[in-house]
Amino acid sequence: MNETVALPTSLALDRILTLEVVRVTERAAIAAALLRGRGDEVAADQAAVDAMRSELNRLPIDGTVVIGEGERDEAPMLYIGEKVGVGGPAVDIALDPLEGTTICAKNLPNSLAVIAVAERGSLLNAPDVYMQKIAIGPGYPDGIVTLDMPASEAIRALARAKGVAPREISACVLDRPRHARLIEEIRTTEAAIRLIGDGDVAGVIHTANPEETGIDIYFGVGGAPEGVLAAAALRCTGGQMQGRLVISSDEQRERAERLGISDVGKVFTMEEMARGDVLFAATGVTDGNLLSGVHFGRTQIETETIVMRSSTKTVRWIRTVHHQLEKFNLG
Ligand code: FBP
Repeated sequence: MNETVALPTSLALDRILTLEVVRVTERAAIAAALLRGRGDEVAADQAAVDAMRSELNRLPIDGTVVIGEGERDEAPMLYIGEKVGVGGPAVDIALDPLEGTTICAKNLPNSLAVIAVAERGSLLNAPDVYMQKIAIGPGYPDGIVTLDMPASEAIRALARAKGVAPREISACVLDRPRHARLIEEIRTTEAAIRLIGDGDVAGVIHTANPEETGIDIYFGVGGAPEGVLAAAALRCTGGQMQGRLVISSDEQRERAERLGISDVGKVFTMEEMARGDVLFAATGVTDGNLLSGVHFGRTQIETETIVMRSSTKTVRWIRTVHHQLEKFNLG
């Protein structure tokens, strides 16, 4: 008889899941990429959800989705609280099978399939509301930028710490009317702004490697679930991030409270959003400056994935060539 020996969660995160989660995001990315540029956000998202869910359900984990497609009554699949996996170490899962549905539908850069896996109880159970965010990469003193300081002050503090003039700093901001004042405030420092149409998980991750991406700091209001995913990623690369829920109705406040957040005005640090040992993986759907998108050849499919772990800070770039095309419902 085969006896299975349960590994401690931390060892399982390292040894087993590092490669397994790559399969999960690869599968979701390929499914979404088949619908790239077709102008149908819903279909692309659904394809990614289906593919991610079926792959997650093969993993040797006792997983609970804590950041997913929504609450049970609004999302039939990968809803918050859904159990996934075939059994194994108890882990929490934050996921976004298609981060940047609109950019995928328009075939613009930086849509991703994203997942974070952590020990049970260590990811913030954020409701699907907005979150105000600020993030910078590694190598700066703790707390040099905070959500409570004006953006211009944060830019000047960051420039001083980097040893450059504020005009040499580049900030990333979602292009939304709600950010008009934030943008004006940043412009007073002469810093450059990269306005992105969507995809603030990638926006935050870009701060981890300014030499490569040209982004030093991320500012603005985006989705709270994406905030937790971004915090998980930045825990692995190093960096600093803060997030505060933006609650605009009693119904949203109640939702936050139901998920265990009693102080809805609290500023969450990166460590409070993603504690302990965290594994993060993202596969490119469309080409971007973080990852190449899925490339379809006549006889093979190529994907690029970044997978990283907070406790070791190991970052792996995995370029995969897939040959068994029948697995991917190419139509
Ligand atoms: P979707 O993948 O759900 O379309 O989210 C894309 C995104 O740009 C996120 O990256 C971001 O956090 C959020 O939408 C911003 O929300 P909104 O489009 O309402 O400003």
